[in-house]
Amino acid sequence: MKEVIISCSGGKHLGKKIAKKLKASYGETIIERFPDTEIKVRINAEIKNKKVFFVQSFYKDKNLDINDKLIELLFAAHTAKSLGAKKINLISPYFAYLRQDMSFKKGEAVANRILVNLCKIFNKVYIVEPHLHRLHSFKEFFPNAVRISLADETANYIKRKIKNPVIVGPDIESEQWVIPVAKKLNAEHKILKKQRFNSRKVKIKGKKTKNKNIVIIDDIISSGHTLIEASKLTKGNIYFIGMHGLFAEGALSKLKKIGKVITTNTIPNKAGKIDCANAIVKKIKK
Ligand code: R5P
Repeated sequence: MKEVIISCSGGKHLGKKIAKKLKASYGETIIERFPDTEIKVRINAEIKNKKVFFVQSFYKDKNLDINDKLIELLFAAHTAKSLGAKKINLISPYFAYLRQDMSFKKGEAVANRILVNLCKIFNKVYIVEPHLHRLHSFKEFFPNAVRISLADETANYIKRKIKNPVIVGPDIESEQWVIPVAKKLNAEHKILKKQRFNSRKVKIKGKKTKNKNIVIIDDIISSGHTLIEASKLTKGNIYFIGMHGLFAEGALSKLKKIGKVITTNTIPNKAGKIDCANAIVKKIKK
């Protein structure tokens, strides 16, 4: 079955590269914005009888926010179905809403479960370094999802650029990224304890780490507060590594005042030095 990669608005930085590596044909979605803010979506590719892979990372840019991108993707996927695509898949370098995995107050939506339902239209959903917290594996709640790890790519980057680092995780969930990377590097690691008060306030506890080079790894960098607080428990040259650099509210410049900031390129940004395209292609070919 012939494959076609279709970049949605949040996938254009990776879609062409993935198509080239897979020797697949390539297309994009075209978005029109109405004065009342509704969007119109058109698929600019031949998809009848093809295996379609949409590429969409959910982040805010100057034209669309996360929720626009979600609507764009769902409209495009349903359109692909009605146009006769044989299989419809999603490659989501950064998949949003996974952190909302329980109802803390009566009446609160469990957003990740709702998205899982909306994603039933896809045969497979490839997600790079998903945020899995209270649910530890996709098997428990997202049966068509496939997890893609960037532990090799992250460890290789550190090996090339940073000498004898100690790897630090800001909270218990960060073990998922810290332990595999530390193992690959044969490096010492430390996991701190985080208490979150609200979306902009966290407190981090643990023993101070002293080393010439310290790498603090987390999955998502949003406001940057988690990493800033974690850095207060370290002494040495600080490197912040994030799987997904969302960098809300000036987080990148705040972090840069403390250390060097590196992310993967699941979301396009200036810190995106670790490429995720090979890991995605490898998983698709499996
Ligand atoms: C949360 O549990 C995640 O793993 C990250 O630690 C969190 O999303 C980072 O957010 P912020 O940069 O706003 O502290």
